[in-house]
Amino acid sequence: MFTANDFIPTSYSESIESGNFQWSAPSNIALVKYWGKKANQIPANPSVSFTLNNCKTITKLAFAKKQNTDNFSFDLFFEGKPKEDFKPKIQKFFERIEIYLPFLKNYHFTIDTQNTFPHSSGIASSASGMAALAMNLMSLEKALNPAMTEDYFYQKASLLARLGSGSACRSVKGQVVTWGQQTNIERSSDLYGVEFPYNIHENFKNYQDTILLVDKGEKQVSSTVGHDLMHNHPFAERRFAQAHENLDKLIVIFENGNLDEFIKIVESEALTLHAMMMTSMPYFILMKPNTLQIINKIWKFRNETQIPVCFTLDAGANVHVLYPNKDKESVLQFIKDELVGYCQNGQYLCDEIGTGAMQL
Ligand code: DP6
Repeated sequence: MFTANDFIPTSYSESIESGNFQWSAPSNIALVKYWGKKANQIPANPSVSFTLNNCKTITKLAFAKKQNTDNFSFDLFFEGKPKEDFKPKIQKFFERIEIYLPFLKNYHFTIDTQNTFPHSSGIASSASGMAALAMNLMSLEKALNPAMTEDYFYQKASLLARLGSGSACRSVKGQVVTWGQQTNIERSSDLYGVEFPYNIHENFKNYQDTILLVDKGEKQVSSTVGHDLMHNHPFAERRFAQAHENLDKLIVIFENGNLDEFIKIVESEALTLHAMMMTSMPYFILMKPNTLQIINKIWKFRNETQIPVCFTLDAGANVHVLYPNKDKESVLQFIKDELVGYCQNGQYLCDEIGTGAMQL
């Protein structure tokens, strides 16, 4: 297991003038939620997520040595067009990770990025975006230090992604990733996400996630502000302890494939996340009326059909509908018949569990 200091390099064996890399990294959906953090993007509790397959960011990173090494230098393109408003986020990211990648000021970077999902869909692109950028930077570091092991490569990529956006550290690997120290998960760490190291029952194979786009508008409260409100939150300590308990329960559920128990944990986690928002000071609500309509329809459908479909939410109004691959046909029909009407412009995205970042 690595400590943070192990990721601070002392020297590189190679020198490289210029080149480029390209990686894709997927989004992920948390089952046990990360909500609340300490300094340096250290999570207040452990989390676990399904890595997605179709919703991803594709980022090309070109680099060329420069003379002046006083500042970071980069151009940023989103879907082929210069994107000035993303630049402060990248600047801050570079500042946070410079200690781990001391070569950053030696190069001018051109970052060319695009998403496979419609932008303004309200889907968080920071997880996939930061993970894709971190993978490219690690490819450059590996070129400077070819002796680097595969383990180090992926764990450091996840650590860097975490410093960009916490949940991004779970977008490097598949299919189930946990982040945050948990006694019963070997090699789990607050510093980076790791692939869930135990058996996963075949009920979860190709598990489906259909994302219902309820509200694509800009959120009134960002995740970063929401995390912050967990400081001095009246229920924080109990909530952080509960996340550990729920993760322990999921370890057993992943092994035995008990979907009824899976649903209880996942839906409770989603509602607890939003309960934390509603009980912070200031309080806020990110769900919309249609979010609740959808939840009630899912409960009714599950009751009537006994099909183990459930929902989870991230920090927004959209609903992730989770269900086994074998029930795909019936659930998609249900979504078309009964849920599409609650989606903004009838839009939804079909996704499933995936394997993590890929070099292109
Ligand atoms: C509700 O990773 O977006 O999606 O670390 O401030 O960038 P920052 O926050 P972010 O928070 C995600 C919160 C969540 C739950 C989760 O993905 O675990």
